[in-house]
Amino acid sequence: MSSHSYPMNSGDDQHSYVHNSSYQKSGINGAEEKIRKWILETLNLKLNSGLNTFKIADFGCSVGPNTFQVVQGIIDTVKYKHLKENNETSLVPLEFQVFFNDQPNNDFNTLFRTLPPSSKREYFSVGVPGSFYGRVLPRNSIHIGHTSYTTHWLSKLPENVCDKKSPAWNKIYILCNDLIEEVSKAYKVQFIKDMGVFLEARAEELVPGGLMIVLGQCLPDGVPMYETWQGHVADTLGDCLMDMAKSGITSEEKIELFSIPLYFPQFSEVKGEIEQNGSFMIEIMETIGHPMEVKALTNDFLTSTYRAFLSTLIEEHFGDGVVDELFDRLAKKLSKHPIDFEMWKTQVVYYGVLKRKSIWGE
Ligand SMILES: C[S@@+](CC[C@H](N)C(=O)[O-])C[C@H]1O[C@@H](n2cnc3c(N)ncnc32)[C@H](O)[C@@H]1O
Repeated sequence: MSSHSYPMNSGDDQHSYVHNSSYQKSGINGAEEKIRKWILETLNLKLNSGLNTFKIADFGCSVGPNTFQVVQGIIDTVKYKHLKENNETSLVPLEFQVFFNDQPNNDFNTLFRTLPPSSKREYFSVGVPGSFYGRVLPRNSIHIGHTSYTTHWLSKLPENVCDKKSPAWNKIYILCNDLIEEVSKAYKVQFIKDMGVFLEARAEELVPGGLMIVLGQCLPDGVPMYETWQGHVADTLGDCLMDMAKSGITSEEKIELFSIPLYFPQFSEVKGEIEQNGSFMIEIMETIGHPMEVKALTNDFLTSTYRAFLSTLIEEHFGDGVVDELFDRLAKKLSKHPIDFEMWKTQVVYYGVLKRKSIWGE
């Protein structure tokens, strides 16, 4: 597999990301207040002086509704700060422009069709197709950038993980589950490269002093993926594929040549990359537990959530008709062997508010 993109499930049917993104939404909600506080504390509104158009970009926005919530939250916070810092009588209202970025094969039609109605929307919208592992916007053009649940998607599958002759071959595993050291190394190398490119591009696009908000899922330091329930679900999905190979629906050969370009770093790896890059000052960067209670993580919920973000990729490799069968099997396996959430460790949510340094480094 070379450089590819795997959009979330399009449209708005029962399997779509629109209806199956509440796990991500809950993670975003968990950090919302803290991010608001840090925007209020660290944003310098003078950045915008003379322009009156405040520009926000959401990188890897998918199809909503999470992106709309995030954008509205940022706008409310900026407006509140603007009002507080200016004498109301002389206040020139700010106008907002929002750039929605994702891969060109993202379902931008659904995104724009489901935008909040214009009577309630306080911004002008722009679609920006293109990989965020590279520049997608003009230099010095964005005041606040945002990205959530995105950079665990690598720009491509790491070298050799599907090469049966390589020590980095991921065998029958479908994800980097940290059981094979060489595989973890290969994934990590790709993650570091990608994160570097992501940060370089955002550093150019943000105005000096602009804020970049990053949020995602990561492993707590020292916890390998195979010890988490998220790793366990991925391995169970791999087991379902093997069962399907035994029934002749797919082949072992195909599974051996399949690995998902998703990498969940440990927290210090993400933070380390931002420090290493050096273009941003870290105003705050920490982790919180995911707010969704385990009783909400039913088998149906997990099956639909994983299906909404993995089907495109699975269909491309294994062909039409495999997705229904695979996720039916996953649901059955999970109900036969329910996940004991007490026994497994869990990933956490990281969030950070980063400030673009000026040429003087502050
Ligand atoms: C799980 S969704 C997250 C969507 C939304 N940000 C949220 O928090 O709900 C991940 C999104 O990242 C996008 N993505 C992954 N790699 C990308 C890349 N290189 N450039 C732009 N978007 C990318 C995917 O297409 C997908 O829409």
